[in-house]
Amino acid sequence: MRIHVLGSGAGGGFPQWNCNCPNCRGLREGQIQARARTQSSIAVSANAEDWVLFNASPDIRAQLESFPELQPARQVRDTAIRAILLVDAQIDHTTGLLMLREHTAPWDVYCTQAVHDDLTTSFPIFNILSHFRGVHWHEVPTDRTPFEILGASGLSFTAVPLKSEAPPYSPHRHNRVPGDNIGVRVYDSRTGGTLFYAPGLGQIDDEVLGFMRQADCILVDGTLWTDDEMIRGGIGDKRGHEMGHLDQSGQGGIMETLSALEGPRKILIHINNTNPILNETSPERRTLEQAGIEVAYDGMEIAL
Ligand code: MLT
Ligand code: MN
Ligand code: ZN
Repeated sequence: MRIHVLGSGAGGGFPQWNCNCPNCRGLREGQIQARARTQSSIAVSANAEDWVLFNASPDIRAQLESFPELQPARQVRDTAIRAILLVDAQIDHTTGLLMLREHTAPWDVYCTQAVHDDLTTSFPIFNILSHFRGVHWHEVPTDRTPFEILGASGLSFTAVPLKSEAPPYSPHRHNRVPGDNIGVRVYDSRTGGTLFYAPGLGQIDDEVLGFMRQADCILVDGTLWTDDEMIRGGIGDKRGHEMGHLDQSGQGGIMETLSALEGPRKILIHINNTNPILNETSPERRTLEQAGIEVAYDGMEIAL
C-alpha cells in the first residue's frame, strides 16, 4: 500500500493566516528552518491507481494539484479518488467536501453514525451537497468489524472509537459518543502491511495501544508539544485535552507511549502551528529524533 501525506498540519495549517507565533512568523520571515504545512489529510492506495481520501481538508484544491496522480485525466472530468473516509466531523477534516462538489457522481463517503449526525444537523455539509451530486453515505462500524471500501480492492479497514472530543458545534461536545472520533487500521492483504492512522487522539487506552503494536507504521496525533501550549503562547484559551488532543511531552503523553513501542515506524501528523517540533533545529525536534519518532510533512510517501 502507498500512503501519501497531502496535509500534515492541524486546523489552521502552517503558517496560520492570522498567527504571529514564533513558528508562523519565523517561517514567513525565513528566520526558522521549517516547512509550510496544509491541513490534515492523507491518501491511501493498494494499486497506486484507485485512492481513498482520508479526510477532506479546506486545502484540498492545492493538495490535489500537489499530487498529480490523483488526476489521471482519462476523461473530461476525472479523479483517482474512489471514496472518502472521515475520521471525525471537524472543520479541518470535512470542509473540503464542499470544494469537491463538482464530482460527476455522488461521493461515496465512509463515516460513523456520530459523524453523519453532525454533518446532517449542526454542520450540514451532507445536506448542502445533496443540492449537487450528493453523498452516498456508508456507515463505518464502531464495533471493530473490518469493512471494505468501494474501489479500494486489496485493502481492509477497521475503525476503533477514540477517546477524543467532538467538534465545538456538535451536540456531542462534552458528551461524547463512540464514533465521534475514530482511529483506522488499514491492512493490505497483498503485502501484509498495516497502517494505523489517528490524527486526533485524546487518550491512549489498551485497545488503541494494541492497534499501534500490530501496525507496521503509525501516523498519530502530533498536534501539541505541551497541553497548555496555546495558552502559554497567548493565542488561545483551550488546553489540548479540552480539544481532544493528547500532548507529546507530558507524563503519559504521546512520546512516552511511542518511545516504548518497538515494532512500528512512528510518525506524528496533524501538527499545530504552535508546536516547537515544526522548527527543525529546535531541542524539541531533537528529542523526538532521539526517540525515533518522525514528523510528517506534506508530500511524504510511505510504502507498506
Ligand atoms: C481539532 O483538531 O481539534 C480541530 O480541527 C481544531 C480546529 O480546526 O478548530
Ligand atoms: Mn483538527
Ligand atoms: Zn502560529
